[in-house]
Amino acid sequence: MRSQDHRRLRPALSRMRRGPFAWIACAAVAATALALADAATAAEPIATLRAAAIDQEPDAPAMMRQSNKDLRRARNYPEQPPTIPHKIRGYQINLKTNKCMSCHSRMAVEQSQAPMVSITHFMDRDGQVLASVTSRRYFCTQCHVPQLEVRPLIENTFVDVDTLLKKGN
Ligand code: HEC
Ligand code: HEC
Repeated sequence: MRSQDHRRLRPALSRMRRGPFAWIACAAVAATALALADAATAAEPIATLRAAAIDQEPDAPAMMRQSNKDLRRARNYPEQPPTIPHKIRGYQINLKTNKCMSCHSRMAVEQSQAPMVSITHFMDRDGQVLASVTSRRYFCTQCHVPQLEVRPLIENTFVDVDTLLKKGN
């Protein structure tokens, strides 16, 4: 959008340079350009989150509480890795142990009543189903994340595809 503005501004500027009130017009255009630049910065409040000079190291914000409602959440689209509805603090995933699998593995779910990792988690890159979870899916938190009980940092305008489909009909 900004490059389009430039394209519109440039011919306007050259036309004005020829006119008698060129300098007034130029000042007006410059003011508009400044206002546009201001609006662009205002739309990115995330840039000001640091709230300290670049050479200062402020205290880190307090750790937020992890959501632990144990209720599975809707996915925003079918391929979304579901977010984790329970806290995972202290759950280790390394070469020797995978705490997640102690509840989510095929054998563990009878005891834990957790949903089993899906069949895609057993597939290698050629779609071949392996006997155990593939190394590509071993580090669960690469894709699955717990949630915090906080207000969103910036406004989110995401629209679910089901809402879009309804609008289209
Ligand atoms: C003590 C057992 C246990 C452990 C350990 C555990 N989970 Fe869970 N998990 C559950 C249960 C039970 C559910 C079902 C919802 C609930 O009760 O919280 C669940 C739900 C989930 C879901 C939501 C699935 C869906 O379809 O919405 C994800 C994702 C998940 N867990 C990921 C993980 C990851 C990643 C780890 C390791 C960091 C982990 N879990 C460790 C028991 C466990
Ligand atoms: C590379 C990304 C990735 C990794 C790593 C990964 N998952 Fe998933 N997971 C997904 C996606 C995407 C889905 C939803 C689509 C599907 O089932 O494949 C999913 C689905 C799930 C589900 C829901 C299954 C269902 O049938 O409702 C659970 C539970 C789960 N994962 C647990 C785990 C655990 C535990 C690990 C670690 C051992 C793990 N995942 C590692 C991407 C990942």
